[in-house]
Amino acid sequence: MPVWAQLVYLLCAVGFVLALKGLSGPRTARTGNLVGAAAAVVACALPFFYADLDHVVLILVAIAVGSVVGVVGAQRVQMTQMPQLVALFNGVGGGAAALVALVELELYASFAGSSDLPLAPLVFTAFTILVGAVSFSGSVVTFAKLQELMTSRPVVPPGLPFAFVGSGLAALVLAGVLVDSPAVWVGVLLALVGLLLGVLLVLPVGGADVPIVISLLNAFTGLTVAAGGYVLGNTVLLVAGTLVGASGTFLTLLMARAMGRSVGNILFGALKGGSTLGAGEASDRPVRSAGPEDVAILLGYAERVIIVPGYGLAVAQAQHTLRELVEVLLERGTEVDYAIHPVAGRMPGHMNVLLAEAQVPYEQLREMDDVNGEFRQTDVVLVVGANDVVNPAARTTPSAPIYGMPILDVDESRQVVFLKRSMRPGFAGIENELLFDPRTTLLFGDAKDSLGKLLAAVKAL
Ligand code: TAP
Repeated sequence: MPVWAQLVYLLCAVGFVLALKGLSGPRTARTGNLVGAAAAVVACALPFFYADLDHVVLILVAIAVGSVVGVVGAQRVQMTQMPQLVALFNGVGGGAAALVALVELELYASFAGSSDLPLAPLVFTAFTILVGAVSFSGSVVTFAKLQELMTSRPVVPPGLPFAFVGSGLAALVLAGVLVDSPAVWVGVLLALVGLLLGVLLVLPVGGADVPIVISLLNAFTGLTVAAGGYVLGNTVLLVAGTLVGASGTFLTLLMARAMGRSVGNILFGALKGGSTLGAGEASDRPVRSAGPEDVAILLGYAERVIIVPGYGLAVAQAQHTLRELVEVLLERGTEVDYAIHPVAGRMPGHMNVLLAEAQVPYEQLREMDDVNGEFRQTDVVLVVGANDVVNPAARTTPSAPIYGMPILDVDESRQVVFLKRSMRPGFAGIENELLFDPRTTLLFGDAKDSLGKLLAAVKAL
């Protein structure tokens, strides 16, 4: 590879690091994303300028098909379906790395028996095939769960732990055989066992845990790509894969911590009957409900209001109406903030992205640890389509699946108003005692509709 191409690859790697840095804050995320995308385009285009490529037409057709599918898919997807999209993209990445390693294996296989075959590339090839296949099939199952093509509850067929351990051992043996005497058929068998392992790994994971597994599989894909970069002697793949592997690992750990769970419990909890997150029943216990006019009076005469957005806000696409309501309250002299729980919604930063899209100023968004001490002095908390992230069972009920998850201390405020459509529970599938508290009022209906009526009623005060 000529020196100039190596320098351009180095610049691309710097671009990836800068992209990650940019993505870590809402103000710089857009630029970060563009920098990363530009670096990826340059890195993909570079081989056309220095390498003696075969099958150029085929490669160009593949790039065109991939680009069209990617652009159309990303434009059409709803924001609430973003985790599924990430799962698909991630799976395709892992699968591609495994296929590239299989092609490289063909080359090594032609030297089988020669004592000159270096050990390390063969080890990395076996790793890439196995982990890439795990990542691919695991991601396909997470996609099916999130898209509700299959149940999103944990699935534990009889004998699953034995099948899992058995396939793990088979994978190790096959990897050993492949390193000792490389042959394509061994690589294909290893990939098939990897596909099975991926399915068995994700099946027992249910409900709200699925996005965390996507992040873990994302880390796997990163490591696979990094190993693939080593096999191919391509530094930019090595750097990009390592960055994805490291950031995926951090994200997995942060999300698990924000939910008060260990990664082991998330992956294998269902085997012990632990992780049972999923849909629950609607309660028929009596609650206090009110109309938009009553809630408008509560809000209109409050000095301090905190808004807690959740998944339902994203479903209703009510972020613009919510921002308008907050603006009217601010004009009336009310002190208003948004309290953002780290796992509100269905993906990291979901609420930040949603509210940024509605032009809510960043200064109004308060993180959980920062705002939690202020609920005690708050007159009204308006919970818009959130449930689990304010459920006190996380503090009080050891048997609850969300027990140990830090929550927004909404129950400490003077009045709480929930905007939701029914008495159905949130993603964790458990009842929220706060809904039955004497200080709680429910305004039933779709959040966009309710907020529209509330806005009109507050304006009319
Ligand atoms: P949830 O607990 O899922 O509650 C959502 C609420 O929104 C429900 O009460 C639902 O009640 C209501 N809702 C749904 N559609 C609505 C609409 N159109 N209008 C009004 N209300 C609507 O959400 P949350 O509090 O944001 O908690 C997030 C959950 O997802 C947590 O369990 C978290 O652990 C999990 N999770 C999050 C992430 C990330 S990274 N964000 C990742 C994995 C898992 P009705 O059906 O009665 O309307």
